[in-house]
Amino acid sequence: MFGKSHHSDKSQSESFSSDHSTDRPSEIIMIVAASDNNVIGKDNNLIWKLKSDLKRFKSLTSGHVIIMGRKTFESFPKPLPNRTHIVISRQHDYPVPEGVVLANTLEQALYEAKDYKKIFIIGGGEIYQQALPFCDTIELTRVHTQCDGDTYFPQLKTEDWRLSKKESHPADTENEFNYSFLTYLKS
Ligand SMILES: NC(=O)c1ccc[n+]([C@@H]2O[C@H](COP(=O)([O-])OP(=O)(O)OC[C@H]3O[C@@H](n4cnc5c(N)ncnc54)[C@H](OP(=O)(O)O)[C@@H]3O)[C@@H](O)[C@H]2O)c1
Repeated sequence: MFGKSHHSDKSQSESFSSDHSTDRPSEIIMIVAASDNNVIGKDNNLIWKLKSDLKRFKSLTSGHVIIMGRKTFESFPKPLPNRTHIVISRQHDYPVPEGVVLANTLEQALYEAKDYKKIFIIGGGEIYQQALPFCDTIELTRVHTQCDGDTYFPQLKTEDWRLSKKESHPADTENEFNYSFLTYLKS
């Protein structure tokens, strides 16, 4: 499916740590859409049709770097335009298209992204779980439904995250459920 891999020659994580406040100016932002029961996906796909969420995702992430797990990357028909992609896989020879960066650890992915002002963590479940301690901000679209799935967003601890912004919207012809855009900042 893909061409030549752009594999980083930085062999290790270069000591990127979750306590990054003093050594680097980047903001690390997790962006996710989750149901009221924290479901984010099923059969390596999204579950709902929410056009406003896709528009928001595009507007927030365009021009920036996006970090994702290998399975999320494979859920796209092709790389998204106008964004630098970093794909995390333990497979050293995982083939990625020209321009897409392969990282073998989360820490290596963050190191590769360090020169960007905004770094977006875009999923999926495994990567959200591991990346949470590194993030400054979470842009969560809460989809107001209970649904079945096979992939979950981690339960946020109220002592770790402070809700700073909330914008609620009703379902309409382009958005099949009520939804809220929530911005959380690390406490
Ligand atoms: N609702 C949303 O906002 C949203 C956003 C994104 C994705 N999703 C959904 O989430 C689902 C995919 O999530 P997922 O949890 O199954 O997979 P994922 O997090 O996208 O990718 C998992 C893969 O990432 C690699 N990986 C994970 N941790 C690693 C580590 N520490 N070091 C190196 N590689 C690592 C492994 O790849 P290898 O197996 O190649 O080693 C692993 O199989 C899909 O249903 C997708 O639609 C939903």
